[in-house]
Amino acid sequence: MSIAEYFSSITQSKLGQSLLVGSVLIGVFKITTFSLSVVSLVFDLFILPATNYSKYGAKKGNWAVITGASDGLGKEYALQLAAKGLNIVLISRTQSKLELLATDIESKYKVSTKIIAFDASTDEDENYLKISNAIDGLPVTVLINNVGQSHSIPVPFVETELKELTDIVTINNLVTLKITQTVLPVIKQTLNQDKKIRGLILTMGSFGGLFPTAYLATYSGSKAFLQNWSNALAGELAPEKIDVELVLSYLVTSAMSKIKRPSLLIPNAKNFVKSAINSVGYRGGAQERFATNTPYWTHALMHFAVANSVGIYSKIANTINFNMHKSIRVRALKKAARLANEKKD
Ligand SMILES: NC(=O)c1ccc[n+]([C@@H]2O[C@H](COP(=O)([O-])OP(=O)(O)OC[C@H]3O[C@@H](n4cnc5c(N)ncnc54)[C@H](OP(=O)(O)O)[C@@H]3O)[C@@H](O)[C@H]2O)c1
Repeated sequence: MSIAEYFSSITQSKLGQSLLVGSVLIGVFKITTFSLSVVSLVFDLFILPATNYSKYGAKKGNWAVITGASDGLGKEYALQLAAKGLNIVLISRTQSKLELLATDIESKYKVSTKIIAFDASTDEDENYLKISNAIDGLPVTVLINNVGQSHSIPVPFVETELKELTDIVTINNLVTLKITQTVLPVIKQTLNQDKKIRGLILTMGSFGGLFPTAYLATYSGSKAFLQNWSNALAGELAPEKIDVELVLSYLVTSAMSKIKRPSLLIPNAKNFVKSAINSVGYRGGAQERFATNTPYWTHALMHFAVANSVGIYSKIANTINFNMHKSIRVRALKKAARLANEKKD
């Protein structure tokens, strides 16, 4: 039987015709959904207007609580939300850095601030009490769960120091959840008293959690945990007018990333945070995910390209990521050895 006869026999049978129609419909569906997500990506990144913070009570005396606020992304969240007209509660470890930033914010943006210093690697009742005492009676509408810790350098899981492992899970997960449990009732109370405004909870995820990342296994797992927790909370709190969003990022220049020079793929904290706070409710590169936003345009294109080609959970993505972290580890170990030698001399 020739190929033409073979296809003709298939298209003449009922089963063959059903399979053909089914395949065409699936193809049309896939092409349509892909085209729509490309359009949505372009609109999210380059066309839609920036988020208007008056719905979150900006310039109306409302407050944002920001964790990990004294440096890096957290400091930028504080500065940029203050610029939008929110009063700011700054939480981090170092009192002196918080005091300097609070003075700077108050003088630049004419908003009020409060500071709370504690070490988030200690899950002490006293820490949450400090927060609830500070925000008691304040009209809080926004919580930015930004504090986070990663591995000091990429490391095989079995060699991860117990303190590093415990601190990562404590800070990124347990303490983040307990801070949210402390702040959320106050947000709800604020919204009960002012029916016109909304609440917002943004949590910093990471490409380290988006992609299973070998040699950063504990950090990767802790950020993946935040993905599901935040998405679950988003569904739960939507009827109560509280927007909940996980913000995804590839590398940004900061103390944590140990990268000083920005590049096309690695923005500075200011530009990253600008993209995040101006696109609340959009998805950017995270088109396939509910209540998740990959806001910075080059990160977004990377996320979207992988999700729509080899796939986030594919072996190929996993292997490329592993090779990248292997080479970061080699360079970090060399640098540590060089510094140790310099110290000896
Ligand atoms: N930078 C990146 O490339 C990148 C990429 C993806 C996701 N992220 C995520 O973005 C978030 C912020 O990262 P970043 O790069 O801005 O970090 P960073 O520059 O190292 O700043 C960390 C902030 O958190 C505070 N902090 C750290 N450990 C703390 C602790 N044990 N207790 C209380 N506060 C503590 C620091 O306070 P002190 O100043 O007092 O130490 C500082 O304010 C993290 O959740 C991170 O996972 C970052």
